[in-house]
Amino acid sequence: GRYNFGKFDTTSWHGQVTGSIPMTRNEELEILYGPAAKDLPAVTELIQSVASQPELEFLRQMLSAALAGTGKLLRPAISLLSARLGEYDLSLAAPLAASVELLHTATLVHDDVIDQADQRRGKPTPNALFGNSASVMLGDYMFANAADFIAQTDKPVVVRKFAKTIMEMAQGELVQDSHVFEYSDDINRYLNQIRGKTAVLFATAAEGGAIVCDADPNIISAMRGYGMNLGMAFQVVDDILDFTGDASLMGKPIGSDLMSGNITLPAILYMQKNPSNPIQHAFEGVRRTSNIKKAIKEILADDSIFWEAKNIAREMCDEARESIDDLPESTEKKILLNLVEYTFSREH
Ligand code: IPE
Ligand code: IPE
Ligand code: MG
Ligand code: MG
Repeated sequence: GRYNFGKFDTTSWHGQVTGSIPMTRNEELEILYGPAAKDLPAVTELIQSVASQPELEFLRQMLSAALAGTGKLLRPAISLLSARLGEYDLSLAAPLAASVELLHTATLVHDDVIDQADQRRGKPTPNALFGNSASVMLGDYMFANAADFIAQTDKPVVVRKFAKTIMEMAQGELVQDSHVFEYSDDINRYLNQIRGKTAVLFATAAEGGAIVCDADPNIISAMRGYGMNLGMAFQVVDDILDFTGDASLMGKPIGSDLMSGNITLPAILYMQKNPSNPIQHAFEGVRRTSNIKKAIKEILADDSIFWEAKNIAREMCDEARESIDDLPESTEKKILLNLVEYTFSREH
C-alpha cells in the first residue's frame, strides 16, 4: 500500500524503513492505531457525508475532490484513543474525531492556496483544480462543517477549545507568512510558529477525546501535554522531510519551504553554523532562486544538521512520552507510545 509502517532501523538518522512487507491499508491502520482503527471508518463516513450535503453542484464537486485523498488520519486516531481513556462512547467520539480531521483538512485547503501547492495526499489540490477564490470558500465551508460536528458532542467547553484552536492556527500561519524571505535564525520564533500552526490542533485532538468521554481531569491534562509535544515533533519531522523526503511517498511537493521563503529548523541550524550567512545573501540579493537552490544543496550535504534537527524532535518525543507517564498501563497507552516512535521515524 501507500503506507509502510515497517520497523525502525536505529542506525540511520532519518529512520529508514527497512524490510517491510506490503500490507493493506486496513492492516496498516490497525498496527498503527490499535483499538482505534476499527472505529475510523465511522469517522471517515461522517466526513464523506459532508460531500453530498450542499445543494450547489459545484460545491459538491469541490468537496469530493478535497475529501478524495485520505491522509494518515493521525489526529482523529489520537482523539479516539484518548476517548477510550474515559467512558468510551462512539456517538460522541466519532463526531469529535470527524471534526478534528475536517478542521485539519480545511486548514490544508487554505494552506495550499497560501503555498501555491498543486499536490496533496497524492492528488491535485483544490486550488490547482478550481482556483484560489473558490478554494477559500471551500475551506470556509469545511470549517463550518467541522463546527457543526463539534457541536454534536454537546460540550461547550470543547466547542470553545475548537474555536481557540482555529484562532491559534490562523495566527500561526499569519506569523509565518508575514516573515517570508525575511532572514532570521531565531529558533524561538520558529517554535512558536509551529506550536500555533500544528501542535495546538494535536493538543486539542488529544484532550478533546478525553473530555467528551468524561475522563479523569489528570488524564485530560496529560493528553493535552502529549498532543502538544507530539505535534511539535510532528512538524519538526515534517520540516526535515521537506528537505530529505520523497515527494511521491509524501503525496505532496517537497523542497519548497526555503524556496518559498519559509525558514524552518534545518535552515536555522545551517545558518547558526555558517555565520557568513548564505541564506541572507540568497534572500536579499539578486538571482534569488539559484542562490536558494545552492543553499539547499549545502544544507543537504551536511548530515550533522539533520542529526541535530532529529535530536530536537527526539527531545519533543521524550516530552510527549513523559506527559502520559502516569497513565495506568493499557493497550491505548501502549499505542500512544508507539505513535511517538512513529512520528519520530516516519518517512511520509
Ligand atoms: C500535514 O499533516 C500538515 C502538517 C502539519 C505538516 P499530515 O502529514 O498529518 O497530513 P495528512 O492528513 O496525512 O495528509
Ligand atoms: C502545514 O503547513 C499546514 C498547517 C499546519 C496549517 P506546511 O505548509 O508547513 O505543511 P505542508 O508541507 O504544506 O503539509
Ligand atoms: Mg504547505
Ligand atoms: Mg504552509
